[in-house]
Amino acid sequence: MNKYSLLSMHDLSVEEINAILDDALLFDNSCSDWQLPQSKALVANLFFEASTRTHYSFESAELQLGCKAVDIATQASSITKGESLYDTIRTLEEAGYDMFVIRHSTERYYDELKTIDKPILNAGDGAADHPTQCLLDLLTMKQEFGSFEGLKVMIAGDILHSRVAASNRYALELLGAEVRFAGPAEWAREGYPTVDFDTYLPEADVVMMLRIQKERGASLSNVADGDYLNRYGLTKERYARMKKGAIIMHPAPVNRGVEIDSDLVEADRSRIFKQMANGVLVRKAVIKRGFGYAPFGSENR
Ligand code: NCD
Repeated sequence: MNKYSLLSMHDLSVEEINAILDDALLFDNSCSDWQLPQSKALVANLFFEASTRTHYSFESAELQLGCKAVDIATQASSITKGESLYDTIRTLEEAGYDMFVIRHSTERYYDELKTIDKPILNAGDGAADHPTQCLLDLLTMKQEFGSFEGLKVMIAGDILHSRVAASNRYALELLGAEVRFAGPAEWAREGYPTVDFDTYLPEADVVMMLRIQKERGASLSNVADGDYLNRYGLTKERYARMKKGAIIMHPAPVNRGVEIDSDLVEADRSRIFKQMANGVLVRKAVIKRGFGYAPFGSENR
């Protein structure tokens, strides 16, 4: 495995997380025009699950950095003829691709790719991890609050099936934040500290809402569709009870009117579209790192 691959938030130290966030901020400022010195590095994007934000913000980041971004049509690849993921990536490596961005429904799909030399960036594996989403979430909180120590983050909804919840729990606790989980009891995750949404709401600095992951089998036996918002979602009434200075986040796609009232998606306290802009910045930082470039301002490694 290439040492600059990014497979899980567990791979990153606090120093490395901070270095990526600092680079992302510089990509928003003085280093916005920075490009990879090698011309036309070939990056293969393989999305075996649906994606808008992650896929196309990776692609935007790749193109901005001067890479050649190639979408591998996973539905039309020989995977559909029974070829393994390993043989597919090994083939692409031999065909001259320099980096792989992969999203797959299998948790830890990358375990079968250990002997691949080129860097792999995980764009989401099942319900396990979503490191670049986590980094853009961290960037959004850092811009808002300056630091993570003592920050109170409530993540609400379908926790059980959410890789975003898993990556954020690990990283935010590592950085000193308090992370609490709310939502239907059948979607609680073992070992994750749960709270009552309405009780914790006035204390939370960040209210992060999650989509119901139906593609991972999420369903609720005892809640009618129209009832979900009132019972577990962010309504206008709950919005009014948020702490002063608190923000709304959501990795999106948003199901308007289900986990969040449609009018709140672009409300004053919402940072949902800001998160999307931040996605390009952190992905630029992670691709730069993936190609072995040191953080801005330090010696090349
Ligand atoms: C998330 C994902 O795919 O895990 N979306 C994203 O990457 N922005 C969350 C989701 O799909 O609900």
